[in-house]
Amino acid sequence: MKFFLDTANLDELKKGARWGMVDGVTTNPSLIAKEGRPIEEQVRLICDIVDGDISAEVVSTEISAMVQEGKGLARIHKNVVVKCPLTRDGIEATAALSKEGIRVNVTLCFSPGQALLAAKAGAYIVSPFVGRVDDIGWVGMDLVRSIIQIYKNYGFKTQVLAASMRSPTHVLESALAGAHIATMPFKVLDMLFNHPLTDKGLEQFLKDWAKVFQETPAGR
Ligand code: E4P
Repeated sequence: MKFFLDTANLDELKKGARWGMVDGVTTNPSLIAKEGRPIEEQVRLICDIVDGDISAEVVSTEISAMVQEGKGLARIHKNVVVKCPLTRDGIEATAALSKEGIRVNVTLCFSPGQALLAAKAGAYIVSPFVGRVDDIGWVGMDLVRSIIQIYKNYGFKTQVLAASMRSPTHVLESALAGAHIATMPFKVLDMLFNHPLTDKGLEQFLKDWAKVFQETPAGR
């Protein structure tokens, strides 16, 4: 399973990359706006940190503008994956860009039927938003499970990217469901490390060591 970070923040990306845990990055207009730089500049800086798929989203809503904007985003770097929303124009743009060899991540997917449209349009990735579905009282993970089953039934190559991850449990359940990718905020990646028994066990090991050897050898 690939881990993507759902952030445009360079410090978070650098830290995640140092851990060797960042296979790619997803951004969206809200995340780019939070960093305050023009999208071309921010995406280029992200590409310098992470060598993997970097999603950059169009903000146009009409087909020809979306295609033009998508081509511009794809020119920023070879690793850029153009993100299009799951609207009628977005799906048409996905088909047009895909036909030209530009990889598209279809975003804002909230139903298995929408995911079928994305796959049929030739999307490289589809992004079901688990957390936002949970927010309205449905079970977001059912969406991921249904999409994976449907894609398997027909051999669609579109990768399923579990998005809107709010907790380590979301990541784990996406892995159990067989999602190709999970994209998560830095906070969720960080939380994946935590276990009280790891902390407790380490504390005991160090205490036992210190009782006999007093100090930790330098350089260890
Ligand atoms: C996915 O690519 C989106 O950027 C993201 O996962 C949205 O998550 P949110 O619902 O936490 O904003």
